[in-house]
Amino acid sequence: MDSTAVARSHWSSRWAFVLVTAGSAIGLGNIWKFPYMTGTNGGSAFVLVYLLCIAFIGVPLLMAETMLGRRGQANPVGSMRRVVAEAGAHPGWIAIGFIGILGALMILSFYSVVAGWILDYAMRSFSGFAGLTKAEAGAAFAALLADPLRLIGWHTVFMILTALVVASGVTSGIERANKIMMPALFAIIVALIVYGIVAADMAAAVRFMFHFDFGAVRREVVLSAMGHAFFTLSLGMGAIMAYGSYLDRGTSIMRTAFYVALADTGIALMAGLAIFAIVFAQGLEPASGPGLILQTLPLAFAQMPGGAVVGPLFFILVIFAAWTSSISLMEPFAAFLIERFGLSRRAAVGGMGLVAWLLGIAVALSFNEWSGFKILGLGIFDLLDTLTTKIMMPLAGLLIALFVGWVMRRHHVAEEMGLSGAQLGIWLNVLRFGSPLAIGLIFLHVVGVIG
Ligand code: TRP
Repeated sequence: MDSTAVARSHWSSRWAFVLVTAGSAIGLGNIWKFPYMTGTNGGSAFVLVYLLCIAFIGVPLLMAETMLGRRGQANPVGSMRRVVAEAGAHPGWIAIGFIGILGALMILSFYSVVAGWILDYAMRSFSGFAGLTKAEAGAAFAALLADPLRLIGWHTVFMILTALVVASGVTSGIERANKIMMPALFAIIVALIVYGIVAADMAAAVRFMFHFDFGAVRREVVLSAMGHAFFTLSLGMGAIMAYGSYLDRGTSIMRTAFYVALADTGIALMAGLAIFAIVFAQGLEPASGPGLILQTLPLAFAQMPGGAVVGPLFFILVIFAAWTSSISLMEPFAAFLIERFGLSRRAAVGGMGLVAWLLGIAVALSFNEWSGFKILGLGIFDLLDTLTTKIMMPLAGLLIALFVGWVMRRHHVAEEMGLSGAQLGIWLNVLRFGSPLAIGLIFLHVVGVIG
């Protein structure tokens, strides 16, 4: 039995929940992954499918997952166990919780390595990038990837930072970190946009991202964009469920989901515009892959007035954004260990952190010493990313939609959501038909069963 009904800590206010959930959603996914994936997937075609997936799959699922957590009042596995029992459903549905905590652990392992790249660049940015050339920026990133000790060192630092906050408990640790950092990040991205307009090629960036052309939407782009919509909203992996479980009754889940999605999408689009403005102004390659922001932004910091201040500030804020996200990746599994096996929070965080750290070392080595090691044609980094983003998250999302739409008792759902009859009906029908159909079709399309 989970021993959570007593004294479960809660967020201090509704805004605190919006803030921490936005903190989970806004992270490397927005600032590192979205721009490079937009670049490698042909620009506007990717952006278009991504926006559609956020609106029609992401937001309804964000609501569903928050609701499951608040209803269950426990870690993702414990919450699923309760809502499944309450619905009198087959215990197999509890798998949703297990897929979540496992997936979150897998993501955390590579997330921490990438956050380590940002730490490395933050350190370097203090001595400034003055005089940096295009070739040097590319070579610097390649040199970082080739250096296992540097990668592992920064990965270790980041994992410890994450563990420290999660060990001190969600409501005190997680809330406080978010309150200052998210607004500051927003401000600096606005500054980068202004730079893009004044000194780089913003017109080309807008054309690249928003010149929609349905004909250009390729098969692979569709799955990538849907997977990214899940990733960027922290969906399907128990994070939102875990946070929802600390949410007070009486808060509108629909409204909070809407704010979170809006903030997350806004930051991603702005980061994309800022980066592509620099990419095109410098004649860089938009499809250069995971190193994109690290090969472009230092060039901008080298040239812009005040770049010596803006550069370090930017990297520090990205680290905080990544930090508030990685916390939400560690919390679900840790809460499970605490509530299920009665571990102390410290022991749970230590154990979970250790496993993710070891897996992260394999990720770090996959860029250099182990670069020849492939499973299904993918290195460890790509394998973990693909497994989680393109398979586990959409699968969990599909199951959540089906469970809430078809299996839960309607009056339980209604009680939790507090929506008007019409709103509830629309949302439930999206979960029943819309999301499963969309996710299913996208899967079949990619596997090649349907054209
Ligand atoms: N959404 C975060 C980002 O964009 C990453 C993240 C945090 C996440 N928690 C998650 C992704 C849970 C999937 C599931 O950087």
